[in-house]
Amino acid sequence: MSISLIGRSLKESATLKLNEVAAILRAKGEPLIHLGIGEPQSRTPIEAVTSFTGILNSGEIRYTPVDGTREMKQAVIRYTEDYYNRHVQPENIIISSGAKQAIMVALQAILDPQDEVIFPSPYWVSYPEMVKLCGAVPVPVPAEDGSFYPRIEDIEQNLTGYTKAIIINSPNNPSGAVYAPQFIEDIIKLAEKESIYLIFDDIYNRLIFDGVQVTNPYDISTDDTDNSRLIVVNGISKPYAMTGFRIGWAVASRKLIEVMTNIQAHQTSGPSVLLQKAAIGAINGSQTGVESLRETLQNNTKVMIDQLKAFDGVHVSPPDGTFYVFADFSYYNNDSEKLAKFLLDKIRVVTVPGAEFGFDGYLRLSTCTTIKDITEGIERIKWALDPNSPNELYIGERKLVRDWL
Ligand SMILES: Cc1ncc(COP(=O)(O)O)c(C=O)c1O
Repeated sequence: MSISLIGRSLKESATLKLNEVAAILRAKGEPLIHLGIGEPQSRTPIEAVTSFTGILNSGEIRYTPVDGTREMKQAVIRYTEDYYNRHVQPENIIISSGAKQAIMVALQAILDPQDEVIFPSPYWVSYPEMVKLCGAVPVPVPAEDGSFYPRIEDIEQNLTGYTKAIIINSPNNPSGAVYAPQFIEDIIKLAEKESIYLIFDDIYNRLIFDGVQVTNPYDISTDDTDNSRLIVVNGISKPYAMTGFRIGWAVASRKLIEVMTNIQAHQTSGPSVLLQKAAIGAINGSQTGVESLRETLQNNTKVMIDQLKAFDGVHVSPPDGTFYVFADFSYYNNDSEKLAKFLLDKIRVVTVPGAEFGFDGYLRLSTCTTIKDITEGIERIKWALDPNSPNELYIGERKLVRDWL
C-alpha cells in the first residue's frame, strides 16, 4: 500500500492509545487504576447542559458559520476581556473543534515545508506531529539545566533562518510548570523582534495553584491585535471538564483568522451549533465549577506529591498548575515506555511514558481521579519498584506475588 511521507512520519497518539487499552482492561473487569487520564472527571456545568438541550429541542440543527456563531464569538470576546483584559473584535476570533484544531489550522496557516517551530521540552505530545503534518520541522528545546523551565538563551540558541513560530504552553502539559513572567516577557519581545509567530496554548491557564500567577501576553505585547503575530488559544475541555464537546478557539490578527477560516472551511466547516451552544452556556454561566475543580486538583496534587516524596528513588518537583505530576523514575528504569508497560502488566496502573513528551525516564501521572485511586496507585507502583516492599500485595481479592526483584 502506498502511504504518504507525512502519513508515515506520524506517530500514533500515545495518550489516546492508552485510553483505549485502559477501556478494554476495565471492560474485562481488571482492577485498573488510571493515572493516565488527561481529562477532569467533574460533571458538565448545568448551564452548558441547559443551553445544549434548548437548541436540541428546537429540532433545527443546521450548519454554522465556519469561524463560529455570532453568539459564541460574543462569549469569547467576553472571556478575553475577563481573563486577558483585552477587547477583541469578532474578526479576531475563530471557533474550532477543540483547541487542538485551533492550533492545527494556525500552524497550517503560517507554515511552509521546512519551516521550523520551537517549543520548550517537555511538550504536549501533539506539537511535533502537528508540525510534521504541515511538512515543517519540530524543534523541541530542553532547558540546559535539565529543569522544566527553559531560559530565553535556550530558545535563542535554536533560532535559525527557518524559525517561523514558537509554541508556549504554560501551565505546561506534562510538567505543570508555569513559566516565569520574565521568561514570557523575553519570549514575546524576542518573537516581536524576529517577526516570529507566538502561539500561546493557554488551555490550562485557569487551573493553577495557590499563589502562582500566569503572565498575560497582552500585557507585554506592544503590537495591536491586528498587527500582532500572537495567537492565543483556549478551549472548554480543561477548565469546564467538557472534553467531549470539542470546542476551542484562537484569538489573533484579522488577516490570520481569515486564512485559518479558509483552511477550516475545507476541513470540517464550522463546529456543531449544539456544541457551541453548550460552550456558551459554560462560559457565560457561573464559574464556581472551575474554582472547585481547581481546588480539587490542588488537593489531589498535594496528596500525590507527598506520597511520591516518600518514595526513595523518585524525584519530583511540585507542578504550578494543570492536573499532571511529571516525576523522574529514571533510578528504576531509564526507558519510560518499558516502565509504563511493566506497571500496566504487573499492577494494572496506567501511567504515560515521559518519552512521549520528550523526557525519557519520567512518567506522567494524572491527578484527575479520586484520592483513593491516587493513594492506591502510588502504593502499587512503590510495591512494584521498591525492593524493600513485602513480597505480596492484595488488589481486592487478587493476590499478587512479586517475582521480579
Ligand atoms: C497542551 C494541550 N493543548 C491542547 C489540548 C487540546 O485540547 P482540546 O480538547 O480543546 O482539543 C490539550 C489536550 O490534552 C493539551 O494538553
